[in-house]
Amino acid sequence: MSTTHTSWAEPYKIKMVEPLFMTTREQREEALKEAGYNTFLLKSEHVYIDLLTDSGTSAMSDRQWAGMMLGDEAYAGSRNFYNLEAAIQRYYGYKHIIPTHQGRGAENLISRILIKPGDIVPGNMYFTTTKLHQEMAGGAFASSTI
Ligand SMILES: Cc1ncc(COP(=O)(O)O)c(C=O)c1O
Repeated sequence: MSTTHTSWAEPYKIKMVEPLFMTTREQREEALKEAGYNTFLLKSEHVYIDLLTDSGTSAMSDRQWAGMMLGDEAYAGSRNFYNLEAAIQRYYGYKHIIPTHQGRGAENLISRILIKPGDIVPGNMYFTTTKLHQEMAGGAFASSTI
């Protein structure tokens, strides 16, 4: 069977589901008020569709789960680091890679590397942590949307 055939149907089966609780508009308004309109202070059970981040929020494939089981969790030099390094070098061509545990960690590193004090950093949109990391590195965030 060909694996390149395209179709409107998703070429995978979902093996696990996580129930979500639907909220009413009144419940959402109350939760927002209680959180002081700060989305970071909302309880996830009050959020039906979470658009705060896409990091680690989607389903993992059977191959990703298998990779976790096959990898070792050594503090340094783990097998999965070398798998990741080889895959990135193969698909992106970078010689060196630095894995980070979160997007905001990567953002901090790249801001410290690329931004010099006094730099103006233009952007048309920012993630919640982006402005802070750019400012901590001495830059000034400039956006036409704010
Ligand atoms: C620029 C940027 N910063 C930060 C994040 C947040 O990532 P995390 O929740 O893994 O820290 C993202 C996520 O997509 C991002 O794109």
